[in-house]
Amino acid sequence: MRIDILTLFPDMIKPALSHSMMWRATHYGFVNIHVHDFRAFSESKHKSVDDSPYGGGAGMVLRVEPVVNALRSIENHEHALKILMTPQGITYNQTRAETLSKNEHIIILCGHYEGYDERIRDYFDVEISIGDYVLTGGEIAALAVVDSIVRLIPGVLSNDASAQEDSFSNALLEYPQYTRPRVYEGKSVPDILLSGHHEEIAKWRFEEAVRRTKIRRPDLYQQYQENKKK
Ligand code: ADE
Repeated sequence: MRIDILTLFPDMIKPALSHSMMWRATHYGFVNIHVHDFRAFSESKHKSVDDSPYGGGAGMVLRVEPVVNALRSIENHEHALKILMTPQGITYNQTRAETLSKNEHIIILCGHYEGYDERIRDYFDVEISIGDYVLTGGEIAALAVVDSIVRLIPGVLSNDASAQEDSFSNALLEYPQYTRPRVYEGKSVPDILLSGHHEEIAKWRFEEAVRRTKIRRPDLYQQYQENKKK
């Protein structure tokens, strides 16, 4: 898989790619991630990337030409899925991460400033928001999307099963987990987990996942009930 990230702040992105699972994924060639500073593609004398809005108003607007030039500089950009990060996009979730992880090539644009020149939208296939709040730019949002995709690529997580058991992957939150010590400040690990009865443990975990989802995320619980009927 190849991911290209278009940003004005490559140094916000690059360090995040050099640790933990993102490092593993790139180092072992599961994914090729290229970070481009699209300021370099501005045709203006001072390499400007923004301008004041037509019709007046506060703030600056991201200009179309540096973005499109940067996009076109990417090899095989015609065949890539082009994503624009914006709070106006569709809300991101695990199902969307799973769909995106099946793409061969993704290009992500991180915006800054008050907004995009509306014409930029014509060059992108999908607009994604990571939630109903506004960040100062799309970099952190893009990293959240990239991280969630990369960990789903087979082989990236050392234990493939763990991606399938994640919270959300079957519309349920994850069951409670424990590790040593057996008792901490009077709080004990549930006996069932020490019983060695694998079937009973699996049953307990499943029931806990359902119970937890029902209490914490009634919306997900409802989705789970509907999925069960299918
Ligand atoms: N840029 C600014 N806020 C954002 C958000 N919530 N999601 C995606 N991109 C953004």
